[in-house]
Amino acid sequence: MKVCEVLLKMENISKSFDKIKVLKEVNFELRRGEIHALVGGNGAGKSTLMKILTGVYKKDSGNIFINGTKIEINEPKDAKANGIAMVFQEFSLVPTLTIAQNIFLNQEQKNRLGLIDDKKCLKKAQTLLNSLHIDVHPEETIDKYSVAYWQLVEIAKALSYNSKILIMDEPTSSLSENETEILFDFMKHLKEKGISIIYISHRMEEILKIADRVTILRNGENVLTQNSSSLTLEQIIEHIVGRELEHAFEWQKRDIERKEPVLKVKNLYSKRHNLNNISFELYPGEILGVAGLMGSGRTEIVESLFGIKSYDSGEIRINNKKVNIKSPQEAMNAGLALVPENRRTKGLILDHSVKDNILLPILKKLKEKLFINDKKGRDITEKLIKTLSIKTEGINQKVKFLSGGNQQKVVIGKWTAHQPEIFLMDEPTIGVDIGAKTEIIELIRSLANENKSIVIISSELQELLAISDRIIVLKNGMVARAINREDIFSEEELQHAVQKG
Ligand SMILES: Nc1ncnc2c1ncn2[C@@H]1O[C@H](COP(=O)(O)OP(=O)(O)OP(=O)(O)O)[C@@H](O)[C@H]1O
Ligand SMILES: [Mg+2]
Repeated sequence: MKVCEVLLKMENISKSFDKIKVLKEVNFELRRGEIHALVGGNGAGKSTLMKILTGVYKKDSGNIFINGTKIEINEPKDAKANGIAMVFQEFSLVPTLTIAQNIFLNQEQKNRLGLIDDKKCLKKAQTLLNSLHIDVHPEETIDKYSVAYWQLVEIAKALSYNSKILIMDEPTSSLSENETEILFDFMKHLKEKGISIIYISHRMEEILKIADRVTILRNGENVLTQNSSSLTLEQIIEHIVGRELEHAFEWQKRDIERKEPVLKVKNLYSKRHNLNNISFELYPGEILGVAGLMGSGRTEIVESLFGIKSYDSGEIRINNKKVNIKSPQEAMNAGLALVPENRRTKGLILDHSVKDNILLPILKKLKEKLFINDKKGRDITEKLIKTLSIKTEGINQKVKFLSGGNQQKVVIGKWTAHQPEIFLMDEPTIGVDIGAKTEIIELIRSLANENKSIVIISSELQELLAISDRIIVLKNGMVARAINREDIFSEEELQHAVQKG
């Protein structure tokens, strides 16, 4: 058999949803043992192209070749049969199943009598996880682990089919820096074994670091395909956005009057959630960045403040009044809003429209006049869609049909409409493209300029440095450092503080 250098070729692929063309004669090529980055703004068509390759969606026209032979992919099993596997942007794991069961879901291991053999399944899972250096217990249910581990297990699952082509849709969005390194090393190892990887990410530095070639899509069309070594970060961004970006990532000094804190957290302690006497203050109009490694207590703090997680002792004061928040509803009444980390499970009702999702927190307010003020609701939604450049067919489009990044913008929009005094944002720009990221940063700044106060957690230090007035660094559930932004001179310095505390 002839071995082609080009393993996969997608030719003139077109796809429409309800007469809207989201892919226009797109070409894509993957070489053997290549890591090929597929990039583009939110809604550019990346996930759709990959869903066509994996048989989730059917193309309207175009051809797909493997090793020079034309193939038909009509359903997921055709993709599997051709050695194509995908790690989805949204998780496909079942929380209540064990890790081993999740990995071998739909390909359960049978014993000689044809019965499902849990022991065999466990053993195979352990071997697979060992070979990937993933440190989890396959006999435990996946819901015991954090999102990062879900991602690793998801990859293990995709690889369990002996795949030749691995598609990764934003695999690092929930991974810490260290875990990302582990993933990259692992990808290099796969590459040496001749496996080809299609890599979708909004993190540009990653692309230059890991990819051999880059294909850029914009509005469902090819912009370019090129060796990544011949591209600069600025060039990639310019091609994605279609224009040069303003300097949104440059820090702007803002004057904060630090007299009376709007939020005061004192000795917050939770044995169960690993919070070790956390204390900090947040002032009106201040943007407080929260840095720290995964497991340092970042998400636990905001979830405790928002009444999702309980704490054993400590004090929370809002406008100098002691509060005892036990539920998200109480938190909202106290003037808080949370933009959660995991938008798919915590932020949105996927079957509902953009409008219903955005208006959810303020329904009560709109209903006050005994009827739902529909015109007002529509106006609020339309305005937010515009400010955040949410790519949707309209306010009545179901959220599940929006691209990942646009879903995230809906989550943020939802809480802006509620007009709280204090925003808690947990990784608000995960999965958001570079253009929209600058828009979200601008939005956060304008909220702060309206004297709203913001706590923002981010793993992207560049983003924290661009936006924060002050940064607290967490380590082992404690505030290891609190630094004024003007006293930090480089990203390395902050990186050092995060690693060492
Ligand atoms: N099932 C669907 N029905 C209707 N429209 C859809 C459907 N799936 C995707 N779309 C639309 O197709 C366009 C491309 O979406 P896609 O998910 O491919 O974007 P993407 O490049 O992956 O973006 P992101 O970076 O935000 O994940 C978007 O405008 C999206 O709203
Ligand atoms: Mg996508």
